Amino acid sequence: METKIFKLEQIQAAADLIKAGELVAFPTETVYGLGADATNEQAVKKVYAAKGRPSDNPLIVHIASLDTVEKYAAFISPDARKLMQQFWPGSLTMIFKLKPGAFSMTVTGGLATAAFRFPDNQATLKLIKTANCPLVGPSANTSGKPSPTTAQHVYHDLNGKIAGILDDGPTRVGVESTVLDMSTDEPVILRPGAVTKTQIESIIGSIETNHHHVGKDETPKAPGMKYKHYAPKAQVYIVDRETDWNAAYQWATTRTTRVGVMAEAHVLQDLKSADNVTKYSLGEGIAAASAKLFAGLRQFDDQPTIKAILVQAFPTNGLGNAYMNRLNKSAGEKHFKLS
Ligand code: TXA
Ligand code: MG
Repeated sequence: METKIFKLEQIQAAADLIKAGELVAFPTETVYGLGADATNEQAVKKVYAAKGRPSDNPLIVHIASLDTVEKYAAFISPDARKLMQQFWPGSLTMIFKLKPGAFSMTVTGGLATAAFRFPDNQATLKLIKTANCPLVGPSANTSGKPSPTTAQHVYHDLNGKIAGILDDGPTRVGVESTVLDMSTDEPVILRPGAVTKTQIESIIGSIETNHHHVGKDETPKAPGMKYKHYAPKAQVYIVDRETDWNAAYQWATTRTTRVGVMAEAHVLQDLKSADNVTKYSLGEGIAAASAKLFAGLRQFDDQPTIKAILVQAFPTNGLGNAYMNRLNKSAGEKHFKLS
């Protein structure tokens, strides 16, 4: 099957494929998702197969109206309603207990809950409305790879495995949504994302965070947290401080293999060129860096001669928390150290 790329004026054709039980990747403001009709179990099964995703890792259900959550969720707290009002459409995914039989086990991974997300992307909201069903949508990458922020990234990973991709250019935010569990007595952040803890707390008061690393045989609250993620083939090293760059760069230029370097433009500017080093600019500031992180890791992943990648750290406040969470996973927590 050749994967078809749909332009925005071809949403009807993309929706027809979804209705026929096929897979179509869709844009969101965070990353591209791999869409299937959430009410069609056979279609949802294809999502796991295309991504190579373990079947105990549940999928986010993407919706285009609040009525859809009311239809499937067993209980929505007043706090959850406040958060919906503030952040939907947007990058906050919320987990609710489901009515019995709301979705198949294939969607929920056998849990009694589901994650709901109202994406901030006009084309995808129209796709959901036209297909007239909620869409499951994990990030549209091969399992373990960085999430896709362009239609080309999706094509690279999934060409031949899915029916289509709805192309809306590069995504704006670049890191995935915040996953907030609203199914428990106390709300808990399971995955830091584009909507920050401080933003959530400004609406509903103080909340817990629970996105620590989980061993292979433990049962984490967000099953996806236990799998290897965002990892290019080359070893990624985090460069913690701007003052470390001279030493880190010195190290890079003395390697016998090639090294990729990802940092803000002003940091790169101060580093001389070297034959074995390829630079990738993260722009300026945490918002730009978050939007470009996955694209940079992917670019270097496509160059097999690159054996190491140095990436700039950011402070872990605000969006920096989501950026560093993804970077730590892609680096396996390895930091550049002078030795
Ligand atoms: O920004 C995003 O959230 C993107 C775009 C496409 O919407 N989607 C995305 O989906 O990142 P995915 O499947 O790659 O990550 C969803 C995460 C996983 O870690 C999964 O385990 C967790 O959310 N999750 C999903 N449903 C859950 C549930 N019912 N309980 C706990 N965790 C859940
Ligand atoms: Mg993912």
